[in-house]
Amino acid sequence: MKQIYRRTFLGGAVASAAWAAARPVRIGIVGVGGRGYGLLRILLDLEGVEIPAVCDIDTKRLARAQDFVEKTRGKRPEGYSRGEEDFRRLAERTDLDAVLCATSWQWHTPVALAAMRASKYAAVEVPAGVTLEQCWELVKTSEQTRMPCMMLENVNYFRNVMLVQNMIDQGLFGEVVHCAGGYHHDTRFLAFLQNGESSWRTKFAEKLNGNLYPTHPIGPIARWMRINHGDRFARLVSMSTVSRGFNAYAARKLGPAHESATRRYAQGDVNTTLLKTERGYTVALGYECQTPRPYDLAFRVQGTKGSYSGTLEKIYVESDDPTQGEKWSDLQPYYDKYEHPMWKQAVSAAGRYSHGGGDFFVLRDFVEAVRQRSQTPIDVYDSATWSAIFPLTIQSVAAGSSTVEFPDFTGGKWRNA
Ligand SMILES: NC(=O)c1ccc[n+]([C@@H]2O[C@H](COP(=O)([O-])OP(=O)(O)OC[C@H]3O[C@@H](n4cnc5c(N)ncnc54)[C@H](O)[C@@H]3O)[C@@H](O)[C@H]2O)c1
Repeated sequence: MKQIYRRTFLGGAVASAAWAAARPVRIGIVGVGGRGYGLLRILLDLEGVEIPAVCDIDTKRLARAQDFVEKTRGKRPEGYSRGEEDFRRLAERTDLDAVLCATSWQWHTPVALAAMRASKYAAVEVPAGVTLEQCWELVKTSEQTRMPCMMLENVNYFRNVMLVQNMIDQGLFGEVVHCAGGYHHDTRFLAFLQNGESSWRTKFAEKLNGNLYPTHPIGPIARWMRINHGDRFARLVSMSTVSRGFNAYAARKLGPAHESATRRYAQGDVNTTLLKTERGYTVALGYECQTPRPYDLAFRVQGTKGSYSGTLEKIYVESDDPTQGEKWSDLQPYYDKYEHPMWKQAVSAAGRYSHGGGDFFVLRDFVEAVRQRSQTPIDVYDSATWSAIFPLTIQSVAAGSSTVEFPDFTGGKWRNA
């Protein structure tokens, strides 16, 4: 059904009519700050999506979102802003099919749980949970209520990520034995509020030390390596450097005597994690957000027949041609041959949207699962597994980089899924 939908929707005018005739998908949004507001705007571009309710503790942001929905759709959504737990009232509404959460991290699980318990689909921003208990609770609640929970991992839908997926599926790299990736993003501009205090992100980094944003690189890697679908992460080990970046940045921006320049931050500047899978493959995962550098997800795939480098956007495929040499090749000819069908059909539609179109696809896939009442393409097991790296790396770092066993959220289903 999903394939049919994709083909028709992406096909243009006919598709549009079919889409419009489809039953509306009604979504309540919790958290309409930078990310939530951006997602809201894309959702309103999708035909057949209605936003009857919006929630934010910040009344200005709430009003901005309400205004935008009213301007676009002619009807003002009901607002919820009576404190941090007001999302519970929103979740109880009877006119919603799904609840989407884009708050700061600590609320993702509570909002998703409230949604599923009220028989709504849950969509959560990354990470889905920040403790192992939260990850388990998501899985148990989804199983008990039979309501899907999808972490909105948009990087899984990036064009290069889906190209690589297609090349792996078609055997171009042979057996994939190792992958690497990292969230290497200088997010110091988000570290401090205008008054110099730590933002909610930095409050986490004041106390925790590990990989605090694992899902952007691990989502694609987990798919490439069939994690939860024939293999599973068995254990990990994690190491962090000293923490210097925030202090240096705050000293430059706020002055060397400012509290933010002298405070001790737990989070090391560079965190490196190694994961081993049950079937014997490995992953090297990075996290670097508080030192200067250009953005780089630093993907690498190593197979028995070839290799892919996301940093270089190049590929190497072994050949019997002796003139080839050990040289990287441009990706373009591979796009011509291996472009993922989803991207082939939607490149012009998706390309207009943020994160290289990934935001469009991830929302469209979620909305379509809700409309069809089907399982979400990223399910609760993926959401929990990818997010669990957050608490597991903290555990490993705190224990002097000891090996930490990875829980099997699927309860053995990974063997046959
Ligand atoms: N997938 C991506 O590419 C991507 C990009 C940016 C942010 N994010 C994620 O999106 C989330 C939000 O990030 P952001 O940059 O928009 O942060 P933000 O601070 O701009 O927005 C968060 C919003 O949530 C509201 N909020 C906080 N607690 C609430 C509660 N209990 N009830 C209702 N509203 C509440 C805040 O008032 C704020 O408006 C984070 O989890 C972040 O990791 C993902």
